[in-house]
Amino acid sequence: MHAMVISEPGGPDVLRWAEVPDPVPAAGEVVIEVTSAGVNRADLMQREGRYPPPPGSPPYPGLECSGRIAATGPGVTGWDAGDEVCALLAGGGYAERVAVPAGQVLPLPGKVGLGDAGALPEVVCTVYANVFQLARLAPGETLLVHGGSSGIGTMAIQLAKAAGARAVCTAGTAEKAARCLDLGADLAINYNEQDFAEVLGERSADVILDIIGARYLARNVSVLATGGRLVIIARQGGSRAELDLGMLQARQASIHATTLRARPPAEKAAVVAAVRENVWPLIGAGQVAPVIDRILPMTDAAEAHRIMAGSTHFGKIVLRA
Ligand SMILES: NC(=O)c1ccc[n+]([C@@H]2O[C@H](COP(=O)([O-])OP(=O)(O)OC[C@H]3O[C@@H](n4cnc5c(N)ncnc54)[C@H](OP(=O)(O)O)[C@@H]3O)[C@@H](O)[C@H]2O)c1
Repeated sequence: MHAMVISEPGGPDVLRWAEVPDPVPAAGEVVIEVTSAGVNRADLMQREGRYPPPPGSPPYPGLECSGRIAATGPGVTGWDAGDEVCALLAGGGYAERVAVPAGQVLPLPGKVGLGDAGALPEVVCTVYANVFQLARLAPGETLLVHGGSSGIGTMAIQLAKAAGARAVCTAGTAEKAARCLDLGADLAINYNEQDFAEVLGERSADVILDIIGARYLARNVSVLATGGRLVIIARQGGSRAELDLGMLQARQASIHATTLRARPPAEKAAVVAAVRENVWPLIGAGQVAPVIDRILPMTDAAEAHRIMAGSTHFGKIVLRA
């Protein structure tokens, strides 16, 4: 088969569509014939050599895909060859075929076809695991999501609104901020023109889904409400910062930092099962939908990475076989 090989750490041009060994399903795994694969910012970091895949996972980029089951390994129940599915991957989605533990496979939710469903598993599982399972966003509470225009942000806004919460976000341009409002955000702050902490004021957010890290830490803590939960899922603004524990204590607040990819398959399977039960019906009803900026051929992954690095997209970039 073919897969997108990272020939050496570097820029988009190190990606090569090359012949590689076919995946063989181990016990408990299925092999998926890939139809579409979502592009995630982590794929760019992996390509640059800054985010190695967990041991035992395919070396090719791609944290989510859709496709048809081509083969099942020993002990797999509930999935058969030919089933149309999508899956949360530890890697390997930029390929013709990928092996994945059966617990990380989802049926297609109604209303989203095989060609688009590769945009769903990573963002839905990340938002659900962090905003709902960990931070327990409740109806009537306020979620602040940084990067409302990202694949993650566009899903977080929709899921927060579907859960009866208030969704506020940051975005880098007026146009992106306007599109976040169209998607349902109650407030979208252009971070290049305004300081989100000044706009929101102290103690205004119950949950924050943060992708900036160090540069926003002090401001994030200042806007946390009493009992607030700050969940950091990326460090685009650095790793080291000073934390005023007094401010955290005064707010009875907590800070978490997580990654989905590093979790063992059993933990990912638990997230996937909860997503199937709680989010899939919302997608099936059309209340929540993937926001797809554009679809490119799988072999144009380098171009997809250039677009994502330039941040001109809104929502997901999808590669199609
Ligand atoms: N820990 C985990 O498990 C996990 C899982 C999935 C994703 N992530 C992280 O989540 C983030 C989004 O991922 P993605 O694949 O959806 O990427 P993406 O679509 O490329 O989004 C990147 C976002 O960063 C925003 N951004 C850049 N500088 C900002 C700033 N100063 N303030 C606020 N926002 C800023 C961009 O906003 P503008 O374009 O408006 O500037 C853009 O929306 C990435 O950092 C990724 O690593 C973490």
